[in-house]
Amino acid sequence: MRDAMSVVVLISGRGSNMESILRSGVPVAAVISNEAGAGGLQIAERRGVPTRVVPHREHPTREAFDAALATEIDRFAPKLVAMAGFMRILTPGFVERYSGRLINIHPSLLPAFPGLSTHARALAAGVKIHGCTVHFVSRELDHGPIIVQAAVPVLAGDTAAALAARVLREEHQVYPIAIRWFLEGRLVSENGVVRVLGNDAQLVYSARA
Ligand code: GRF
Repeated sequence: MRDAMSVVVLISGRGSNMESILRSGVPVAAVISNEAGAGGLQIAERRGVPTRVVPHREHPTREAFDAALATEIDRFAPKLVAMAGFMRILTPGFVERYSGRLINIHPSLLPAFPGLSTHARALAAGVKIHGCTVHFVSRELDHGPIIVQAAVPVLAGDTAAALAARVLREEHQVYPIAIRWFLEGRLVSENGVVRVLGNDAQLVYSARA
């Protein structure tokens, strides 16, 4: 279970990104959720991956929750912690503790549209290209160094749900790729800009509707 190259995945909900990571063959030591009812937990269990629940409501402060979460994570001694639809704002102390080995996937082309409701906001802004970003987590929400992005067209008549589904297909492609790059030691960060050794293509563009 303790694989020095392994990943702990943090989820809060359905876990489709987590499933794409598991399917990719990346070594996942455990899946941890702050929600006992997260659908992704069952998916992980069916695949024989250890799961843990750290319920945020049982902790009086963000610091207390983050400390309990860190205790669970550290039991698996992961090389990387990957947030995949993990809907908690983390304390600076937690972010520091995992600095350089904590990543997240966000459903927009950052730095556009940090925060929630990204697809509706993209439609309201009239952007013609939208997408997702895998990035290192920094203290500022949805602002860390960008590892890879995938872009999709915004089409006339799109609803937020249609756009979300188009983006999600790309999320499932790029997150496992970013994790592999990390585990292979190929990510180099200089002044907040991430390069991938041996690969210049950190943007995936999909014209598929
Ligand atoms: C994804 O769109 C992810 O980018 C965002 O939350 C959603 C989680 O979906 N952070 P899932 O739980 O991976 O299906």
